[in-house]
Amino acid sequence: MQAPKRPFGGAAVTRRRRGSAAFSGLLWIFGIALIAAPFLRERDNIGSYAGDFTRTSEKDVPFAEDLANYEKDFGAGLAAAIASSSEEYFGLESPWLRDTGAVDFFRIPSGRLNYQIHCVGCHAETGDGGGPAARYLNPRPRNFRKGLFKFTSTDASSRPQRRDLFQTITRGLAGSSMPEFRLVNDEKRWDLVEYVRWLSMKGEFEQLMLDDAYENEEIPDAKEIADIIIKRWHPANLRTIYPGVAETPKDQASIDRGRALFNDSNKGTCSTCHGPEGRGDGPTADKYLDDWGYPIRPRDLTAGTFRAGAEGADLYRTIAAGIKGTPMGSFEGALSPEEIWDLVHFIQSLSEKR
Ligand code: HEC
Ligand code: HEC
Repeated sequence: MQAPKRPFGGAAVTRRRRGSAAFSGLLWIFGIALIAAPFLRERDNIGSYAGDFTRTSEKDVPFAEDLANYEKDFGAGLAAAIASSSEEYFGLESPWLRDTGAVDFFRIPSGRLNYQIHCVGCHAETGDGGGPAARYLNPRPRNFRKGLFKFTSTDASSRPQRRDLFQTITRGLAGSSMPEFRLVNDEKRWDLVEYVRWLSMKGEFEQLMLDDAYENEEIPDAKEIADIIIKRWHPANLRTIYPGVAETPKDQASIDRGRALFNDSNKGTCSTCHGPEGRGDGPTADKYLDDWGYPIRPRDLTAGTFRAGAEGADLYRTIAAGIKGTPMGSFEGALSPEEIWDLVHFIQSLSEKR
């Protein structure tokens, strides 16, 4: 951390000159603000949770380690088998993969290059989220190799749409260290989307090969596993959740209905996690791990920082589709579209008050 040094050094120098006490004081305030900023953010609970993010969790063991453990128990051979079938089915020279049409090969070279430039430091070469910076970050960068993405427009069992990933890469995830990449042009961002999809499919394939081997204590049929993965990502199998009705009027009556639903323990159930005022302090707030095995807290909704966006349509999507891999499930079906809009209006009113 370089930044806090500057104001302190500056203060020492200016104090030696006479008559600059006020300036020096200002620099100190600036320095202290710099140091305090991360803690203020933590209080708001928009991006940081208590817990040990410096190591990978039991559910997030690096693939190579997982594989080595298997070979210790069941004998060598699996690693080599997975490596060669991964090359055959998900390698970038694979005619089989090309024929499935699951990956737009045209975008891969640029996708790979831009991933090397902008993403490896956090998401790592293989996409397992264990880049050199990962151990300092909370929440941790996403491990793409599970095929699990939080902010999508698809139902709970579906992989993300290309445009979901595009939106994440474009806008970043506010309140986490995932930056926005608006300055990388559109075409390059689509190339990145394709590369992330490919990393994800390949990772899922290798992991499922390993998991299947653990379960059956023999090396599985690679073609069968490859078919399963391709099917998961096929556009026909991605069910999208759209706003069912156009936005209803955002008036006090809608906000009041939203508040009631938010606190209704049978219907909205939001307050059990987010607390009655939406501060992220509900009775169950401290109890959760995400599906990657890291601690996660319900968001403080009064802070007005939303990773998947604060616009009406964004919040609608978040409530309807849920946040995959987290305790925040989908409310599509459980709530009518009009009820979801009431909740959106209530949530927006929480940060507007501030
Ligand atoms: C400084 C670290 C950092 C860099 C650089 C970074 N990311 Fe991320 N990324 C994160 C973090 C942290 C998360 C997880 C946030 C969360 O869990 O809410 C994330 C999440 C994601 C997600 C998952 C979103 C979801 O719905 O689950 C995608 C996709 C993604 N990043 C793509 C990229 C791409 C592509 C690049 C390079 C262009 C990149 N990231 C660069 C830190 C980073
Ligand atoms: C079982 C616990 C639980 C329930 C019930 C729940 N949430 Fe959440 N919610 C969470 C967690 C955990 C997060 C933080 C996810 C993350 O960090 O990625 C979250 C995040 C959010 C976000 C922030 C999304 C963003 O883009 O950053 C909104 C908005 C939200 N919840 C609204 C609601 C509403 C409205 C309800 C009720 C219909 C609700 N939640 C019910 C656990 C819950």
